Amino acid sequence: MDQNAKKQAVGRAAVKYVEPDTIIGVGTGSTVNCFIDALADIKHQITGAVSSSEASTERLKALGIEIFELNEVDSLSVYVDGADEITEHKHMIKGGGAALTREKIVAAVAKTFVCIVDNSKEVGVLGKFPLPVEVIPMARSYVARELVKLGGDPVYRDGVVTDNGNVILDVFNLEILNPVELEKTINNIPGVVTNGIFGMRGADVVLVATDDGVVTK
Ligand code: A5P
Repeated sequence: MDQNAKKQAVGRAAVKYVEPDTIIGVGTGSTVNCFIDALADIKHQITGAVSSSEASTERLKALGIEIFELNEVDSLSVYVDGADEITEHKHMIKGGGAALTREKIVAAVAKTFVCIVDNSKEVGVLGKFPLPVEVIPMARSYVARELVKLGGDPVYRDGVVTDNGNVILDVFNLEILNPVELEKTINNIPGVVTNGIFGMRGADVVLVATDDGVVTK
């Protein structure tokens, strides 16, 4: 099965976690796009969605799914999103698509976080995928120097402005042995909005697409 077919399979598999008559959280990326496409079959059963990016909002709206602002809702039954890397402890690196801050906020509100990946995303230790860090523009150089002190090699993602008007530093060469600790440490640097480690709030359910089908973890 090629990677695209795996993304479609895992996107379809996530639909069963959607509860009728609720508002759901929807993440960002090519795997989530497959989930959104699969939502077409049950779109009349849900009240609507909170989206983590402008890109997903457009795709959901095209299906006729109502979009809610997060401030309008008290709770979300489920949040479905992809990941760039994930461990057996359900810790993740996210933010390859630069939507990490909104993703982290929406994930925090949801009762259940369902992460959908193909098996190429599974790793023993996080860090081979460069860690995205969203930074207030005026703090970019300072934050980069602090990230070097933590052992990383930050690279400015040239030309990318997040949905929140900030910039992204991608940090190479980190071996993230303690994701929860590093997540907090980086978030404490003045000027950092958030970083792409999802350790404090990991996934609750992981659906992994393999050659033999979708495995639930
Ligand atoms: C978006 O900012 C990311 O967190 C995505 O969830 C992640 O990059 C996975 O994207 P793909 O499904 O396209 O690999």
